[in-house]
Amino acid sequence: MKFYIGSDHAGFRTKETLKKRLAGMKVRIVDMGAFDEERSDYPDFAKKVSQAVVNDKGSFGLLVCGTGIGMCIAANKVRGVRAANPFDEYTAAVAREHNSANVICLGGRTYKASKAQRILDAFITSKPSREKRHRRRVEKICEMERR
Ligand code: RB5
Repeated sequence: MKFYIGSDHAGFRTKETLKKRLAGMKVRIVDMGAFDEERSDYPDFAKKVSQAVVNDKGSFGLLVCGTGIGMCIAANKVRGVRAANPFDEYTAAVAREHNSANVICLGGRTYKASKAQRILDAFITSKPSREKRHRRRVEKICEMERR
């Protein structure tokens, strides 16, 4: 598994914690910044990570800002990205199972880093459902992008 990761200043610390977690799980990581807590603009990192994910088939993105919301809105502007902002383990698992999400956006200010780790673990250990209805719905999302 390969993850492109990014954060703004508000997500920096959580990104660093999650980076260690991913490294421990033998996940390949490409850190696209931020590299410190200097104030920065989350769309810049959402764009970099999202473009990298769509250009590297099968890879994933992890984005952290204050809430995960801004990163999620911005990431979903990039064609081919299905970004989710899960708030617990269940929503992280179904983001992959039902929505085939390829980017996970988490909050650095909305819960502790330990909870972010559990949410990320649930995302990583889940797989897109092979059920016809879920595949059909994801295909409908992809179809919207082709218009
Ligand atoms: C930065 O203050 C904050 O607005 C940003 O990290 C994020 O939460 C936006 O969605």
